[in-house]
Amino acid sequence: MPLTAAAATSLALLLIAYSAAGGDMVVTAGMKPWEGCGECHGLAGVAPNGHFPNLAAQDPFYLEKEMEDFRTGLRRNDHGQMGHAARRARGKTLAAIVRYFASLPPPPPSPDKLPRTIVREGRALLATGDRIRKVPACEGCHGPDPTPRFIAGRLDAQPAAYLEKELEDFRSGRRANDPRRMMQIIARRMSRAQITAVSRYLASQPHRGTGPSLR
Ligand code: HEC
Ligand code: HEC
Repeated sequence: MPLTAAAATSLALLLIAYSAAGGDMVVTAGMKPWEGCGECHGLAGVAPNGHFPNLAAQDPFYLEKEMEDFRTGLRRNDHGQMGHAARRARGKTLAAIVRYFASLPPPPPSPDKLPRTIVREGRALLATGDRIRKVPACEGCHGPDPTPRFIAGRLDAQPAAYLEKELEDFRSGRRANDPRRMMQIIARRMSRAQITAVSRYLASQPHRGTGPSLR
């Protein structure tokens, strides 16, 4: 028996009600491929809290690499939250999602007022690193004009809690998708106080936009 328009409408409403009630039947027809990502990362690419990273104005090559790493399991420090999303987004769909987030306006920096010691330590690590601990300047790879050209991603205006978690994960080896283990080595050389300081300082820094391609 063919479905009448009225029956189709009530079926659609039923499906929406079911998914709203927490059922696993989610109506995705007509949704843009990035709308699902927006549920955790914010549709404007600005994360609702420090558990999630901002995606707005992130380097597109970095976004692509991380999605690939989540998909293959090379990066697995996400409590299983990204695997499903990463397996569904491939090829042209992934390219459209990456274009969408990379071209959004940059996220706003955290307005938190920082103690002067944190500002001093954060600024020094970014610009010059720490000679005694052999920590290289973060800007050398994460700045707007990195040399050499690693796909390192932008860190400005990222939530402090997220940055701190990533540095701790590199330190413990829980996150191990960095080329040549470079971030694991760097994070292990940093003190816990330095990790906290640089994370809080970076969160307070205005994002400088996507700029030229970093690849
Ligand atoms: C259920 C929540 C959830 C959904 C849905 C989700 N993500 Fe994520 N995503 C996370 C979490 C949590 C992390 C941080 C993992 C960690 O702690 O390292 C993350 C990390 C990422 C990162 C790494 C960012 C960085 O700075 O390294 C990218 C890129 C990303 N997500 C893209 C996406 C895209 C694209 C989608 C949609 C296809 C998506 N996410 C859907 C929860 C989610
Ligand atoms: C020699 C180059 C290099 C230097 C110097 C460097 N990084 Fe990185 N960093 C990387 C690369 C490459 C990645 C991306 C790893 C990957 O492929 O996922 C990264 C990733 C990160 C991430 C994860 C970003 C995210 O969005 O998940 C954080 C946080 C980070 N670095 C902080 C720092 C800090 C703080 C410093 C300075 C103390 C620093 N890095 C110095 C190369 C570098």
